[in-house]
Amino acid sequence: WVLMVTAQTPTNIAVIKYWGKRDETLILPVNDSISVTLDPDHLCTTTTVAVSPSFDHDRMWLNAKEISLSGGRFQNCLREIRNRACDFEDKQKGIKIEKKDWEKLHVHIASYNNFPTAAGLASSAAGFACLVFSLAKLMNLREDQSQLSAIARQGSGSACRSLFGGFVKWIMGKDEKGSDSLAVQLADEEHWNDLVIIIAVVSSRQKETSSTSGMRESVETSLLLQHRAKEVVPKRIVQMEEAIKNHDFSSFAQLACADSNQFHAVCLDTSPPIFYMNDTSHRIISYVEKWNRSEGSPQVAYTFDAGPNAVMIARNRKVATQLLQRLLFFFPPNSDTDLNSYVLGDKSI
Ligand code: DP6
Repeated sequence: WVLMVTAQTPTNIAVIKYWGKRDETLILPVNDSISVTLDPDHLCTTTTVAVSPSFDHDRMWLNAKEISLSGGRFQNCLREIRNRACDFEDKQKGIKIEKKDWEKLHVHIASYNNFPTAAGLASSAAGFACLVFSLAKLMNLREDQSQLSAIARQGSGSACRSLFGGFVKWIMGKDEKGSDSLAVQLADEEHWNDLVIIIAVVSSRQKETSSTSGMRESVETSLLLQHRAKEVVPKRIVQMEEAIKNHDFSSFAQLACADSNQFHAVCLDTSPPIFYMNDTSHRIISYVEKWNRSEGSPQVAYTFDAGPNAVMIARNRKVATQLLQRLLFFFPPNSDTDLNSYVLGDKSI
């Protein structure tokens, strides 16, 4: 027999960024972060996990290519899930698995990303969230989403936020073992569904410095990171939660843009400096800033993760349509910028 589960998990985009760990193995961050989870139809990972007595070792395929499962992060997630696995029975199929049997059973995992892997579009976030969620279903775990988020966190920090839709906060926690470093939902996907997210895929090339090594270097060398984690982010988290609660787009946009810019300033403050954005990214920032100023209040927020791709959040569909038209004018389809639009909610523009 073969037992199988398929799940789909969207990626998330941080509007208050996670950058820096206080524990590299457990993946414990130096500050809280807040993100928006994208529409599940776009930028998502689909993962099928299967278990069978005929499998003789754990195997995984990513985008149809077999990859090694020997990495510590995979092993940590698998171990955490196996430890919590529960009895399972399907009388019709005649399958009975007792808690202790899960240890001996091997899994096959097939995962597929519908967007560029490792190009700064948070593919590891959707990937590990989906892996943990589907394995947890397969092995009949009783844990709630927040408890599962603490397992996904050990695969990739940002993955813990993809266990929920809408607006999500990753609480850094205080416990040395990380038991309280988990994600909670601040508001569901219906709460602020005027917002439209547009992503300009400036480059789908693999980034040169991974988030993992980049943030390690920042923790070791950037004084600005210390100041940011202790003094700046705690205040911004409170303000961002308030802005989300009140649908206050002006504060939301100001905070998201400032936080993205400070994260990239930390990257520049790292030795040697890390450059994630390129000229096109900078042109997009200037353009959005100019537009917002000419309107008298922010219409569009921008944020950039560890890569040059721009994530823009428009205050409503009308603004999103204008933004897309203007961007297409500045960056025509045959230029090196490939514009894609994705929405938060169930509609696409
Ligand atoms: C810039 O979660 O990819 O996207 O925990 O080492 O796997 P690891 O890093 P990762 O870092 C994401 C960094 C970021 C900001 C964010 O998503 O909060």
